Amino acid sequence: MAEIEQPEPVRFAGRSAVVTGAAGGIGAALAAELGARGMSVVVADLDGDGARAVAEALQADGVDALGAQVDVTDPESTEALAQAAYAKFGSVELLCNNAGVLLFGSVADSSIGDWGWLSSVNIEGMLNCLHAFLPRMRAASGWRQIMNTASTHAFLPDPAGTALYTATKHAILGLSLGLRGELATDGIGVTTLCPGQAATRILDAQRTRPAAFGRPAAEPFGTGVIPMSIEPAEVARLAVDGIRRDAPIVFALPEYSRDTFRDQVERMWRLADDALVVPGETHVANGR
Ligand SMILES: NC(=O)c1ccc[n+]([C@@H]2O[C@H](COP(=O)([O-])OP(=O)(O)OC[C@H]3O[C@@H](n4cnc5c(N)ncnc54)[C@H](O)[C@@H]3O)[C@@H](O)[C@H]2O)c1
Repeated sequence: MAEIEQPEPVRFAGRSAVVTGAAGGIGAALAAELGARGMSVVVADLDGDGARAVAEALQADGVDALGAQVDVTDPESTEALAQAAYAKFGSVELLCNNAGVLLFGSVADSSIGDWGWLSSVNIEGMLNCLHAFLPRMRAASGWRQIMNTASTHAFLPDPAGTALYTATKHAILGLSLGLRGELATDGIGVTTLCPGQAATRILDAQRTRPAAFGRPAAEPFGTGVIPMSIEPAEVARLAVDGIRRDAPIVFALPEYSRDTFRDQVERMWRLADDALVVPGETHVANGR
């Protein structure tokens, strides 16, 4: 019987990664996980001091790391990040677009500034990084991968109170899946990371909100760490395993919430299924 050819396992050692939003939380854990697997890492964040501190801690562990300040909402800043990364390491095989922010509030009560800030970081920030890095990555050859951090919110059927944040994460999922198809001929893989409830400073995301976007939204759950959440190091381990497999989507959520999340995904698909009415039939929704 003919042997099924197995793909070569991805070799991380000797390659370089850029991780945005890496001054803490999931980004810092990703940088540490990639460094532990032998990659050189650019630790990039709006919080430049925080990014440099994470890079120094990695260097102390023997990782070739560079800390860099970047504002992903600014195309000049993301271009400068790309220049710094290539000047330092000569190549970038893995780009982790992870920087992201969260706020709560109903659609009606949210301000346009709320949306402006969320979308500029979560959506445009990702596009700015892609525009800065993709031409260089496409011009190279060999193994290359992009990982975009979305959220389990990209699959939630009733995200009341987080509709704006959820909209940005739907956008990231759509963008990432589309990009995955587009880059297949270049040999560049795209993985979408969907964490849920990770123990980070995400509830305090508005600490970085610029005044130009108006007054901060209410923080109904405080600014502490989300209780009963998964550790960022575990998210990073699952993410890097998904990157290695070129998984289209990676979920990383606390074990106890997996069944609830599975139910939510099923309800999400049932919304579509219920809407697939037989042509000619009238679809009666919401009892009207
Ligand atoms: N923690 C969770 O439960 C959870 C769940 C789903 C998805 N996520 C996503 O994970 C990603 C990382 O978040 P986290 O949980 O580690 O939170 P975090 O607040 O610890 O990290 C986010 C980082 O992004 C940085 N950042 C914010 N604006 C930036 C900008 N304009 N340019 C560059 N960096 C900027 C912040 O300084 C911060 O270090 C985000 O995309 C978030 O939406 C988190």
